[in-house]
Amino acid sequence: MHLSSQAAQRHRQRLIEKLLPGDLLILPAASLTSRNSDVSHRFRQNSDFYYLTAFPEPGAYALIRRQEKAAVYTLFVPPKCPEREVWDGFRVGVSGAVEHFAADDAYSLDEIDAKMPDLIDGAQRLIYPLGHDQLEAKVRTWRRSLLAKARLGATCPSVVVDSGSIVHELRLIKDEHELELMERAAQISVAAHCKGMTAGVPGFSEHQLEGLIEGEFRAGGAARFAYPSIVASGSNGCVLHYHENDSTIADGDMLLIDAGGEYAGYASDITVTWPASGRFSEPQRRLYESVLRVQLAVVDAVRPGATFKQLNTLACRLLLGEMQGLGLVDAEKSIDELFEAKAYTPYYMHSIGHWIGMDVHDVGAYGKDRSRPFEPGMVLTVEPGLYIAPDASEAPAEFRGLAVRIEDDLAVTTGAARNLSHGLPRSVAEIEAFMARTRA
Ligand code: GLY
Ligand code: MN
Ligand code: MN
Repeated sequence: MHLSSQAAQRHRQRLIEKLLPGDLLILPAASLTSRNSDVSHRFRQNSDFYYLTAFPEPGAYALIRRQEKAAVYTLFVPPKCPEREVWDGFRVGVSGAVEHFAADDAYSLDEIDAKMPDLIDGAQRLIYPLGHDQLEAKVRTWRRSLLAKARLGATCPSVVVDSGSIVHELRLIKDEHELELMERAAQISVAAHCKGMTAGVPGFSEHQLEGLIEGEFRAGGAARFAYPSIVASGSNGCVLHYHENDSTIADGDMLLIDAGGEYAGYASDITVTWPASGRFSEPQRRLYESVLRVQLAVVDAVRPGATFKQLNTLACRLLLGEMQGLGLVDAEKSIDELFEAKAYTPYYMHSIGHWIGMDVHDVGAYGKDRSRPFEPGMVLTVEPGLYIAPDASEAPAEFRGLAVRIEDDLAVTTGAARNLSHGLPRSVAEIEAFMARTRA
């Protein structure tokens, strides 16, 4: 499933409103990257390029030249090539770029070095991704060609702007169509997690669960996973970026699974925690319910005007209260005192969430100290956790080796947040009932 050309056209329209007359934006597609010899890694399009073009092929370039009122959209694309298409598949080609991707002009990539200097001529600001080595080398060459024609009246833009400063701000605010695509990505992943909860009995292995969940992503229409899946049984869940995924699940383990599919270029990011046996032990239940109470309270605080800084503070303070109840931190001290001393860090060491969109850790400025106010259309994760390492000698023994994280994807609206990853059994009762029913 691809982003539609119409959606990309709407994104270009929003971009054009942000550009000044005389601006020229140049964006490169992603390139194929070699894995070894003549084998490439599976291709994924560059997110900025895809957002503005929906064009799916590697190596292409998009130009948007803002004029006084209108704008000209140009694509340089891999040319049709029957011999290569036999091996690598269909190419849209130059006429297809105009016909199906709404380019005003399209050229073969073979022509880019010859045409670019003239296309840059007269632009006042050149906008492209700074730090993109391959493009920067090309821009230097194109500028040199243009400067060589200065006596003939050619003029080179003297201002360079990072495209991210404009495009990433657009990407941060999702329109309704994007929210629907993100909800679809999340719902494919919810269904996959539910399959995992049914299948992941003791004796099953983490790699079997990983394969099953990622297989469900593909079966549901996701192109790929949005990030490498974390499938952690037992104390493996205490390793925040656990990726080995090859232990056998033991009776009495909880599973912490952080996995999300990507659909039409949009990510989901979901974490579930559940008992392999289908029943939480008492310490597991207490830890799980502590994290769930905090997660629900933080989700409730996702409103316009709230900030990540506020959510982080809220999560840490609520988690500290829970930790007092669990005997993990000093119950005699005030929450203020514990918060000041960062007493949560042995058991909670990451932040409460991040923007999510085309990229799982999405673009868009967070503001100084993460204090940018939320606005409708922003999408973020809320993912508190508690991780009690097996060697956490200060923690009550019954909690050692237990890990819980609960993560959903939330769209900011004018009121309560819209949970894109709705539909998972989340309470202890719901999880146990779901597992009893589907494993029967
Ligand atoms: N799965 C990556 C994260 O939760 O941020
Ligand atoms: Mn995650
Ligand atoms: Mn996340």
